[in-house]
Amino acid sequence: MSLLNDIEPLKQTALAELKAAPDLAALDQAKGAWVGPNGKFTGLMKQLGTLPKEERPAAGKIINQSKAELEAALTERRGELEMKAALPKEPTDFTLPGRRHPAGKLHPLTQVTEEIVRSFRKIGFAVADGPEIEDEYHCFDALNTPADHPARDAQDTFYLDTQDRMLLRTHTSSVQIRVMQKQPPPVRIIVPGRVYRRDNPDATHNPTFQQIEGLYVDKNVTVGDLKGTVEFVFKDLLGADTKIRFRPHYFSYTEPSFEIDFSSALTKKMGKEWLEIAGCGMVHPQVFENVGYDPAVWTGWAFGFGIERIAMIRYGINDIRLFYENDLRFLRQF
Ligand code: DAH
Repeated sequence: MSLLNDIEPLKQTALAELKAAPDLAALDQAKGAWVGPNGKFTGLMKQLGTLPKEERPAAGKIINQSKAELEAALTERRGELEMKAALPKEPTDFTLPGRRHPAGKLHPLTQVTEEIVRSFRKIGFAVADGPEIEDEYHCFDALNTPADHPARDAQDTFYLDTQDRMLLRTHTSSVQIRVMQKQPPPVRIIVPGRVYRRDNPDATHNPTFQQIEGLYVDKNVTVGDLKGTVEFVFKDLLGADTKIRFRPHYFSYTEPSFEIDFSSALTKKMGKEWLEIAGCGMVHPQVFENVGYDPAVWTGWAFGFGIERIAMIRYGINDIRLFYENDLRFLRQF
């Protein structure tokens, strides 16, 4: 009978010890001491054989129940201790300032591009896109600039070492062709994008720069429409005091062709009355022929200008290379 009497107090002691284990290591140790293979409670089981035969089933049942109670207490305490171990040692100080992520900004060229696009959107222009790796046909031939044309030398560029002589586009004008090949007139698009020329970098040149192309095709389009559109956009971008003038020029894909100069408080700040800003003209009938538009029915104009140049004038930046250096001291100013 002494064995049966031993069980209850032994169990109580074991429960108390398990519940009081201060950490996981202490709990593991208590587990070994009580219910491990050599634990005290396991020892009780081994003594069962010493009991009279008729008492053994009842005693075995009590021992098993107690052992189950101990296992449950063990699991519960383990859960508590594990949770405690996962908590930070120091209480959280909710009054500490938050961790700030440095806020990024759009590059000044992106900002200016978006402004230009916004201006043209106001008067119904859509944005079109084309590949930077172009073929000679779209970049030159279709724009009425055949292989023996001197204007091709003036835009010498980077050719890819492939059989089909692909090249980095020298101007966004190639997208005029791609758009007209794809859709019937009328067309009213602008094309912002990167272009390439074999230029040596200096304060006003870089082998990679960005342009915006414009193309407007409809019936009865005139130079007056061109002038009105350009004036609206440049006033929007460069200030209401902006004046523009057209000078005769030559481009093989427009006839007549012009260069656009503008004058404003900004040019005067740069010590100049007029500053050249863009090329433009009435789309050459041969270009319409090349894309399958009937030049007897359709008329249009096109223009192209450099985005860097606009940004430099707007912000008074005197070296184009600053745009590409990724110097935060420069970029943060915009
Ligand atoms: N493609 C010319 C350049 O890169 C700019 C230009 C001039 C575009 C006249 C035009 C245009 O669409 O009509 O210098």
